[in-house]
Amino acid sequence: MSRASSIAYPNIALVKYWGKRDEALILPAAGSLSLTVDDLATTTAVEVTDRPGEDIFILNGRAASASATERTSAFLDVIRQQVGDDRAAVVDSTNAGPTGAGMASSASGFAALASAAASAYGLSLDQPALSRLARRGSGSACRSVIGGLAVWHAGDELESFAEPVPGPDLRLVPVIVSGRPKAVSSRRAMRLSRDTSPFYPAWVSSTEETLRQMIAACAAGDIERIGQLTESHALRMHAVIASSTPPVRYLSPASLTVLDAVQELRADGLAAWATADAGPNVCVLTTPGDAGQVAQAMAGLAVSDPAEGAPGPLRILGPGPGAHLIPDPVELTRGAS
Ligand code: PMV
Repeated sequence: MSRASSIAYPNIALVKYWGKRDEALILPAAGSLSLTVDDLATTTAVEVTDRPGEDIFILNGRAASASATERTSAFLDVIRQQVGDDRAAVVDSTNAGPTGAGMASSASGFAALASAAASAYGLSLDQPALSRLARRGSGSACRSVIGGLAVWHAGDELESFAEPVPGPDLRLVPVIVSGRPKAVSSRRAMRLSRDTSPFYPAWVSSTEETLRQMIAACAAGDIERIGQLTESHALRMHAVIASSTPPVRYLSPASLTVLDAVQELRADGLAAWATADAGPNVCVLTTPGDAGQVAQAMAGLAVSDPAEGAPGPLRILGPGPGAHLIPDPVELTRGAS
């Protein structure tokens, strides 16, 4: 029996990934760029049993749903095939942030799982290979293998991984308006956008262009340009999603209240630009110097509804580390006894 534990943090995309060109391998239609943050981590322990059979997946202290367990098993199969090992595993995962609410829990989740499971099954991987592996669980997870700013190359199977990119010190203020899981999964909504939105081809080609501009803006440390590109790219993504048939709308009235407030902060001279993933929650991109004022203004909006499962005010997020192994709690307990 072998065990390993890992921690990984969510990443928030400044240039979004939305659409696959290969669903089985999870190859994206275009590249993307994100910031891995330093809070809302997923911690995952994987224990390989001594028998083949069903995997067990415990999420936040309870048996996970059948569909979540199936997705976890399908991911473990990728590793099992590589190492020629058919033993089942027990996976125990805890999210510090809301699960499935568009705060990148699948990114931290599959990055932590990839790191812990590879180690538990005895698969030794360098960072690009671990990023490629995490991608097979959830596309955006490949970026949480990398700390700080990361670019995920569209590439083919071998080239499609994330790697660090240079850039300025940034902060994100998460405004969690709802902790509820989203009604339509990003996997399903991406497929709808690709198959039905008349704007999808323009979205893909313009994303490649935005990515080039964003990499240049990061290298130049041009925060203003990074912010403009971030907000406009997020709004484009939500426009493509809303233009699908049937339409999908992730932003809620509370999200729009936040977007308006962010615009006002900019008019007042603060560095503040909004972005939102596949859910109603908004992250405000800002600088270390303005983050305190931005967070205060966001708390003043009182849009985080506890009835919607939204936690209280969250701390300001800075750049966090990539997925990595941590001392295994069970091994430590055993060692101490
Ligand atoms: O990795 P997935 O399948 O959960 O897709 C995430 C897509 C967005 O979060 C909406 C955008 C992104 O680039 O993270």
